[in-house]
Amino acid sequence: MFFAKKNPLKSRDIISINDLSKDEIIYLLQQAVGLEDYNPKLLPDKIIASLFFEPSTRTRLSFDAAAKRLGAQVIGFDNIDTTSLKKGESFKDTIKMIEQYADVIVIRHPKEGSAQLAADLSHVPVINAGDGSNQHPTQTLVDLYTIKKEKGKLEGLTVGFLGDLKFGRTVHSLASALGLFNANIVFIAPKGLEMPAEYLKELQSKSVNFSQTADLLNVSQTLDVLYVTRIQEERFKNKKDYKKVAGSYQINKEMLANFKQDVLVMHPLPRLEEINQDVDETPNQGYFKQAGNAVAVRKAILASVLGRV
Ligand code: NCD
Repeated sequence: MFFAKKNPLKSRDIISINDLSKDEIIYLLQQAVGLEDYNPKLLPDKIIASLFFEPSTRTRLSFDAAAKRLGAQVIGFDNIDTTSLKKGESFKDTIKMIEQYADVIVIRHPKEGSAQLAADLSHVPVINAGDGSNQHPTQTLVDLYTIKKEKGKLEGLTVGFLGDLKFGRTVHSLASALGLFNANIVFIAPKGLEMPAEYLKELQSKSVNFSQTADLLNVSQTLDVLYVTRIQEERFKNKKDYKKVAGSYQINKEMLANFKQDVLVMHPLPRLEEINQDVDETPNQGYFKQAGNAVAVRKAILASVLGRV
């Protein structure tokens, strides 16, 4: 399914997964395959700004590792307390400065729309590493890469999303992307955490096959991939509402007997109790593979946006 093509991503922002066509997604996945075990020093003269206004482990460190593997330098922060934002400096002023210090900006922010705002202000490309509960397009590329690698294809799979579909940005981005690959999508959510209507409308308008249920075991036999998510406690306005749904679902090894034998269990991580540790040693475990694949995919993203592939 992969084919070589001229780099279509040079100097582009990646804010939403919908910014990328199917061909462009395939292009990036193809580049990632080539860079998985290969670290050509493509970016020795480049500086990547890594601006994390919100906690992160995998996303920040895999971007960092990807940049360094390709010979780039990384500047930035993972804690706004050490920046002039703490003194009251505006987001706008911060971006207007940093765009002069770096060749690309990777940004994570708790507020929806802030990556787009940064892109509007910056003349260097901006990559969204997660904006509130909105979008997380680079995680989606990691997820697609992992699905392709583990299932051998992307087309026509039945994918179940389990958990916080309301606030989970990884779900919002991945569901849109899977729609490009003729997926059958099943949304499985506790009451109150269902997929927001705007995303369902978008899928409908693109004639994507999807259904919704609260009962995982009703659909478990149909799934090629089960994508589990954490309940996003930090996005709840009312902690009582969080307490009502916390711990309301858990996948464990015993439960896997109800699924296809080769179901791929994915999770963007971090996990709390939604996947028991006894799943880790099963052949169905996909989440640490996702975390590992993140470096190759982010190498491909940086090299493409910076025009070095
Ligand atoms: C996710 C995120 O930040 O949206 N993590 C990640 O980037 N791998 C998922 C989460 O925080 O639950």
